[in-house]
Amino acid sequence: MCGIFGYIGHRNASKLLVKGLLRLEYRGYDSSGVVVKNGTLESFKDIGKISEMASSLPSLQGSIGIAHTRWATHGAVTRENAHPHLSNDGKVAIVHNGIIQNSEMLRKRLKKLGVSLNSETDSEIFCHFISMDLQEGKTPMEALRNVLSMVRGTWGLCVLFLEYDFVLCARNGSPLIVGRGKNEMFISSDPHAIREHTDQLVALEDGQIAKVDSRDVQVMQIDGRAVESSYLNLEEEWGESELGDYPHFMLKEIHEQAQSLQHCISGRLRHAEGTSVLGGLQIEPHNLAQLPHIRLIGCGTALHAAQIGQILIEQWARIPAVSHVASEFNANDPVINPDALHLAISQSGETADTLSAVKEIQRKGADVYGVVNVVGSTIARQCGKGVYIHSGPEQSVASTKAFTNMVGALALFSLQLGRSRHLSKTKGKSIAREMRKLPEKIRSYLENPGPIDEAVELVMQSKSVLFLGRGISSPVASEGALKLMEIAYIPCLAYPAGEMKHGPIALIEQDSPVVVIAPNDGVQDRTMNAIHECKARGAKIILIHEEGDPIAEIGDVSIPIPATIPMLTPLLSVLPTQLIAYQTALSLGHDVDRPRNLAKSVTVE
Ligand code: AGP
Repeated sequence: MCGIFGYIGHRNASKLLVKGLLRLEYRGYDSSGVVVKNGTLESFKDIGKISEMASSLPSLQGSIGIAHTRWATHGAVTRENAHPHLSNDGKVAIVHNGIIQNSEMLRKRLKKLGVSLNSETDSEIFCHFISMDLQEGKTPMEALRNVLSMVRGTWGLCVLFLEYDFVLCARNGSPLIVGRGKNEMFISSDPHAIREHTDQLVALEDGQIAKVDSRDVQVMQIDGRAVESSYLNLEEEWGESELGDYPHFMLKEIHEQAQSLQHCISGRLRHAEGTSVLGGLQIEPHNLAQLPHIRLIGCGTALHAAQIGQILIEQWARIPAVSHVASEFNANDPVINPDALHLAISQSGETADTLSAVKEIQRKGADVYGVVNVVGSTIARQCGKGVYIHSGPEQSVASTKAFTNMVGALALFSLQLGRSRHLSKTKGKSIAREMRKLPEKIRSYLENPGPIDEAVELVMQSKSVLFLGRGISSPVASEGALKLMEIAYIPCLAYPAGEMKHGPIALIEQDSPVVVIAPNDGVQDRTMNAIHECKARGAKIILIHEEGDPIAEIGDVSIPIPATIPMLTPLLSVLPTQLIAYQTALSLGHDVDRPRNLAKSVTVE
């Protein structure tokens, strides 16, 4: 979604700002803009690609500026609504991420005061109120505090002033970090944009404001109380984010899965004891014995990983577990048991729906552990404990390697829990042995992915695609459907295979494509029933099955994956669904990495 980048230093700001925006491009946006201080506040913005905006950017001198990528919420995709927004006297410029809930009322107040508004956005009010206060003699900090006392909602806000050599920042519900270079400072909503300049950063917390000049950042609470802020070290793995020889980030990230899963599990498996150790998820044995249940919360792909985690926990640790759609979690005033364990799962660590569920659980007295990819992200910090999944940067909007590592981390956790309870050492050792083999199996599958092109032929012109799976393959079906829908824009429906006859079967016509995930996992015979029911009505079956399994004969297109133990099959069966989605989107000529309307990190509820 919206992104912010700022620079205060000695180099040409506009070039660095554009570079920073390009690093934020993967998050999804519809317009972009920059403003640089150079005698006046010179601003340039446009709709469409950053590269187009940048190619018509006049040469702007100046070594201090702020920039933005917008993902429309209030007001259409127009140049006027793009950020930055400037006060009418040209002395204050702002960029804002988030939503101001009482903006209509504040816009009316400004109009009554005779201020002409230049956009339909909720964000523009900031620059006008700040500018009015400056005219009345308030300091920039006083003016910022004053406008923040008027607004309700969420903000990651940067303010640039014509008459001062610093940028003021504020954060409430929308991330903002400040990175320190040598006599230069960087501001961003995403560590990814800062990583190439520095690995030293300060992450603002909700309710904080900051003054950033070319040498340092001063952080304080909104009421002016000073805050002790220390620089975090951005992990090394956050660096490898270039496309290399791949045409798209999605394909690159699909192929990185063997290595990223290796990162996630290496050093955490204890083969001799048949267990694993996740430092951030160590729970005292006596607390474990009393654990009433575990709840796993996430959105989209993270939700599908949570659904798999739920099954793994119940199977291996025999603890009741349930997964929840984060965006629904708070809707019905959930009952929270403070003795229960809660896991918040998120790649970005910034998803507003998940964050809001975390806060609700904490408000009601329970702990939440994060299972997060982005180091130092809001959810990771809000939880204060948990594990990083170590996927490295994921830039394609369609999540692939983060799914694999979420499932990998949840499998490690389930094994650790199981071994602290009833799981035998022998069983634990065989699970650990199989987990260790997975990266190699992923690699070998991706080297020889089977008849993906034939599957693409079947789905690319179809009205809709049905995905079926049973047991632990049911969330894989959902993940496959989400992926194809997101990037190929084909309506997809995912159902537990046994549920198909209770409704979705009505959709099946001659040649309807049905993707069936059917590893040899003990529930396969019942999946077969659904396949026969589909075939009897003319459906074309794309079957994902284990190598050497005679079930292959039943598929119209059969895609073999390496065999593993049933509970780990999602880590292999998801791979063909990712490739089908990728190839289909490509064949249909879509922008694979930046599908329409979607954002990489969804920071609004
Ligand atoms: C996945 O392909 C999606 N783009 C989306 O569903 C995503 O998984 C969801 O928005 C949750 O994001 P998070 O993992 O960053 O919290």
